[in-house]
Amino acid sequence: MSQHHDVISSRIEDLDTPALLLDGPASERNIRRMTEFFRGRKCQLRPHFKNHKCPALARRQWEAGSAVGFTCAKLGEAEVLAEHGFDNLLVANQVVGARKIARLVEMARRIDIRVAVDDAEQSRLISEAAAAARVTVGVLVEVDIGMGRCGVAPGQPALRLAEQISRLPGLRFFGIQAYEGHAVYTNDLDRRTELTRQSMGLAVRTRRLIEAHGIPVDVISAGSSSTYQITGVMDGVDEVQAGTYPTMDWRYAQMAPEFEVALSILTRVISKRPGAAVLDVGVKGAGAEFGVPRIKDHPDVEIPFFLAEEHCVVKKAPDSWRVGDAVELMPSHACTTCNLHRVMCVHEEGRVVDVWPIEASGRLG
Ligand SMILES: Cc1ncc(COP(=O)(O)O)c(C=O)c1O
Repeated sequence: MSQHHDVISSRIEDLDTPALLLDGPASERNIRRMTEFFRGRKCQLRPHFKNHKCPALARRQWEAGSAVGFTCAKLGEAEVLAEHGFDNLLVANQVVGARKIARLVEMARRIDIRVAVDDAEQSRLISEAAAAARVTVGVLVEVDIGMGRCGVAPGQPALRLAEQISRLPGLRFFGIQAYEGHAVYTNDLDRRTELTRQSMGLAVRTRRLIEAHGIPVDVISAGSSSTYQITGVMDGVDEVQAGTYPTMDWRYAQMAPEFEVALSILTRVISKRPGAAVLDVGVKGAGAEFGVPRIKDHPDVEIPFFLAEEHCVVKKAPDSWRVGDAVELMPSHACTTCNLHRVMCVHEEGRVVDVWPIEASGRLG
């Protein structure tokens, strides 16, 4: 790790590379925009921490307002947030295995913790551990509304699981976890709107079915940074779990252009030959599942890259580039990029103003 507080006030191009950068004012504007959307609405924001895994940035989201708590992908992320004073957390994922359940129960002693479940036996195991420890764990039934990841089918299977959970000691049934992940990357907004409404309709009808059987449903938690404006205004949806909006990446910006790409990776040209240049970052520093990174100052120029572990070969590199020059890249996936770094350097007007540890990076379980 080479970036510490001694870099504050230095120009970003003077940082050691590769370095993860966050444009502070752009991130603030993104946060404000999302916060304003939810201000005064019945549906509230539960930002997804898995995007940046950085408690200092989570604190900015929280202080902006409109948030009821945070969403986490993993229990380890929730543990980090709890250590930083956040006390209303949803792990929108299955918590499986005896050791993990013990950690979950431990957290339930201190904070309001909720988890997703999609299996009766797992619910029973969590109930047993929670009841033995005399704590209550909040539970949301995960319903698969079309993504094909985890979740029970909408309708009767979800109702059956909700009924089982309501009878178990140590658990409190809160409602439904539903993520329209198969709609999030639909470029065409009309198509995305249609698919989101159709999919979320399955969750809302399931809610009504459960309620009709006398089981109160407090929340449907769902949504993302590219469907918040659709899911967040649907009757019966209470929380939107938008994740990417404070950082953004070039791929997500195609779906949600109202948010600015605030995240970048500062790299350096380490080798140059006619028509090509090599930068000092590869897949160990830039999440690339949704495509190779793009050069920040040339967003419209599609330059074919070769991305290795530690090298990024830029074909048709600008003639002006020299060995030693700093080049900013926008990753294709902000969430996996943040998970590869230990700190992010926050900058404003070209200078570093803060260095934020990414305490939950590498917390995979
Ligand atoms: C369960 C869940 N909710 C919400 C999101 C939305 O996050 P984002 O705004 O980054 O698309 C995700 C993304 O992976 C997710 O897995």
